[in-house]
Amino acid sequence: MAYEIIHADCFDWLKTCPPGSFHAVITDPPFGFREFTRVELTKMKNGHGGVWRIPPVIGGSQRAPLPRFTVLSPQDVEQMAEFFGQWAELLLPALVPGGHLFIAATPLWSHVVFSAVAEAGFEKRGEIVRLVRTLRGGDRPKGAEAEFPNVSAMPRSCWEPWGVFRKPFEGTLAGNLRQWKAGGLRRLPGGNPFPDVIDSVRTPRRERDIAPHPSLKPQQFLRLLAWAALPLGHGRILDPFAGSGSTLAAAEALGYDSKGIEIDDDYIRVARRAIPELAKLSAGVTARRNGKSAEAMLPLFELPEDG
Ligand SMILES: C[S@@+](CC[C@H](N)C(=O)[O-])C[C@H]1O[C@@H](n2cnc3c(N)ncnc32)[C@H](O)[C@@H]1O
Repeated sequence: MAYEIIHADCFDWLKTCPPGSFHAVITDPPFGFREFTRVELTKMKNGHGGVWRIPPVIGGSQRAPLPRFTVLSPQDVEQMAEFFGQWAELLLPALVPGGHLFIAATPLWSHVVFSAVAEAGFEKRGEIVRLVRTLRGGDRPKGAEAEFPNVSAMPRSCWEPWGVFRKPFEGTLAGNLRQWKAGGLRRLPGGNPFPDVIDSVRTPRRERDIAPHPSLKPQQFLRLLAWAALPLGHGRILDPFAGSGSTLAAAEALGYDSKGIEIDDDYIRVARRAIPELAKLSAGVTARRNGKSAEAMLPLFELPEDG
């Protein structure tokens, strides 16, 4: 299958995208967006200052920097709502009627992003809880850790919310599926509905070695989303904030066409190298669109049975 990664600002690119080009969007946006500005990226790469939380070296092993979303001011939050509102308005025409949007967020700011996306005209269809133990939250009061050893400033995050949205359509779901091949979610192989709680993992080291991006998402999870996003197993997937191209790799592994947009020249280089490597990995979900290979996915989803 074909994928393409384009070096551009997705806001500009979406303005030129022919309407109805995609059947689904799976994306992990620059949450809090300040962390991916050139100034902040330089501070992160230099290892000090800025909005990135640079973890200490523990037991001789260097851990990856994390975005620190708590530093956002009220003005930043307002700007965030504007950013996602404008983005969602530009995105809506690029989808076919009934096309789904899966968008990553954080428990801290998902309400801002999801409201902005809904106000722009998307229909909210639910949220996926990606169970994953991150290093976010749970810190003792900064500068007074010894004084308040039994206090944490906020919960240690053990999940990641993904908003599930859909471009509205007219008529019935069945009619829309026939006409646009979109509007629903693909059931799991074996017939169970796609669930909204997914037991995930931190991105494995072998994937991080292939695609060194600070926000790399795991293939296991992205392939599940890509599977669900095309209800009839046909169509094209877009990731407007492609990073290292992990969504494109997931689509490629499942045999779907995809396109990614990435603004940063370093990450574009990473993506061009990483996509074919990530797509080749067996990461819990490997299958082709049709036929018996889907059976091979069954034990690999490892999701609980209904009821
Ligand atoms: C959270 S990261 C996505 C990482 C991705 N999930 C992965 O696994 O590699 C967000 C990405 O969006 C990119 N980005 C930020 N603003 C953008 C824009 N206006 N257009 C396109 N890409 C943008 C950033 O450079 C960053 O790589």
